[in-house]
Amino acid sequence: MLTADLLERTAPLYERVRTVIPAMEWPVFAEDIDAILALKKQRNAVILAHNYMTPEIFHCVADIVGDSLALAREATKVDADVIVLAGVHFMAETAKMLNPQKKVLIPDSRAGCSLAESITAADVRLMREKHPGVPIVTYVNSTAAVKAESDICCTSGNALKIVESLGVDTVIMLPDEYLAKNIAAQTKVKVLTWAGHCEVHERFTAADVRTLRAENPGVIVLAHPECPPEVVAEADYAGSTADMSAFVGREQPAKVVLLTECSMADNVCVNHPKVSFVRPCNLCPHMKRITLPKIRHALETMTEEVTIDPVLMERARRSVERMLEVK
Ligand code: 13P
Ligand code: SF4
Repeated sequence: MLTADLLERTAPLYERVRTVIPAMEWPVFAEDIDAILALKKQRNAVILAHNYMTPEIFHCVADIVGDSLALAREATKVDADVIVLAGVHFMAETAKMLNPQKKVLIPDSRAGCSLAESITAADVRLMREKHPGVPIVTYVNSTAAVKAESDICCTSGNALKIVESLGVDTVIMLPDEYLAKNIAAQTKVKVLTWAGHCEVHERFTAADVRTLRAENPGVIVLAHPECPPEVVAEADYAGSTADMSAFVGREQPAKVVLLTECSMADNVCVNHPKVSFVRPCNLCPHMKRITLPKIRHALETMTEEVTIDPVLMERARRSVERMLEVK
């Protein structure tokens, strides 16, 4: 129940998000936030949240936030008994692979990803048959079954480093065609691609960038490397969600646009009040399935638990661990 006590307890949290959540809406969130904070203690649980979570999740209940790479790295260090992954299913699977002993919960197991859905394990086996001896670098936005058929994983934050670490002249990069092409533009390594796309980032066009610049003189354009290559070519900088956030912190541009999912700008702007954000963002319907009431429900009922076949998990983990070993 929403009491004066509860509102007082959660008031310091509201201070963090007051620029992005209207005061009128706060009572809707405060009760769930208060309950989640208590449940985390009771269950000895931590919440790992991706940069695309809404601000009340990202700033008010998460213990660890970041891009896919940071979440995978941090998942190896978790001490708690329970991990709640506030993100999409492949992220929860990665956390489980790296913590097979722990209970990993996802607040809505339907939170998928168009990239993960674009390829199957059988497709990867066919690619290997077609290109014998060519290493397969698989984006973490993929299922455990696909990771299990791969040689090494990568994220948008380390893809170039991973490709170049292999010491070969050709690699296969699955499943994101645009990430693969954006990496190919930065290396001498030949990159063979797959036709998977992120349904959020593929919608940005080069014409959008030109319009943005015309309408917002001086704006700095940051793009996620899942955007089409012609968008990245017109942007001032391309990087993972963590890289974009770090860019804003470091450069403090007067005016910036993040060509990515909508919650990114909400989360980043909270920490940089002097930066003005232009917001032509796209929503990820999968990320948006994760809400405060569902996180609360996950901790109350200890569902939905992420499970992976142990043999498959072992093979998939090898691809993720190889990635984490590349310094
Ligand atoms: P990051 O690894 O850059 O956070 O990207 C994950 C993702 O799903 C982007 O759409
Ligand atoms: Fe997948 Fe794109 Fe959503 Fe990221 S933003 S989870 S890549 S659909």
